[in-house]
Amino acid sequence: MKYLLKEVDDLGILTLTINQPKKLNALSKPLLGELDELITEGIGNDAVKGIILTGAGDKAFVAGADISEFQGISNENAVAMARNGQELFRKIECCPKPVIAAINGFALGGGCELAMACHMRIASEAAIFGQPEVNLGLIPGYGGTQRLVQLIGKGRAIEFLMNAQMIKADRAYEMGLVNHVVPAEELLEKCKAVLKKMVNKSPLTLAKIVECVDAVYDPKKDGYQIEAEAFGECFGTEDYVEGVTAFLEKRKPQFTGK
Ligand code: COA
Repeated sequence: MKYLLKEVDDLGILTLTINQPKKLNALSKPLLGELDELITEGIGNDAVKGIILTGAGDKAFVAGADISEFQGISNENAVAMARNGQELFRKIECCPKPVIAAINGFALGGGCELAMACHMRIASEAAIFGQPEVNLGLIPGYGGTQRLVQLIGKGRAIEFLMNAQMIKADRAYEMGLVNHVVPAEELLEKCKAVLKKMVNKSPLTLAKIVECVDAVYDPKKDGYQIEAEAFGECFGTEDYVEGVTAFLEKRKPQFTGK
């Protein structure tokens, strides 16, 4: 891989690091291709229990889509570019394993959108957030207008999208954009600590939670029905039998994902 680093620890936590620090980890087309490949691989690999997405260097998580690719692009190609990015970010959002964005610096434009596609966001105190596309005569194209409203509400989202202001991590926390803010040197450790509490659960239940929570945002879906069915399916799993048996035997459950 040219643009990303990958590492899996002994808990099955896959850390993907976007590794273009000289370009502030801007999302170029080939970089997104590699990210797609690695996310797909992580989803398909049973040994991977959770994913952390971060940026190399101490300056940027991701400073946006690669602006150098925008010049001379036709309307049709711009639509296709947005659709491709949206599809990849949707894949991350639907990942059946928990995904955390470890935001170590600038999360601007497509970088903020990428962070929002992850299930959780943990920021270093040095992180900076913004959707500055309007400064370029553009708007977000990787789902930012949709997910920002979901995360921080319509009024705040419109203000954030229209004023192109950059905000610090503590403000992002107040707005509900991030789950936790920690000193820079504790960022990955905190992400791993959060995932550690999840990766020993049944992967079947974690996947069902992603599916049920996601249904909230799809008006065509009946989330309550999806929840009821997923709840019912749990009763047919070995992990449910193990969970209840372990509780009654006063021991920790050993889930197998069956
Ligand atoms: N796309 C392409 N290249 C980018 C980039 C992006 N989104 N963001 C930063 N870079 C490049 C810069 O062009 C520069 O390259 P160079 O060294 O070859 O000149 C390098 O990364 C370092 O960035 P620089 O602007 O010199 O750093 P800075 O500390 O002065 O400013 C930012 C940091 C994040 C404020 C500034 O880079 C910026 O505004 N980036 C664009 C953010 C944006 O609009 N994102 C949305 C895109 S749709």
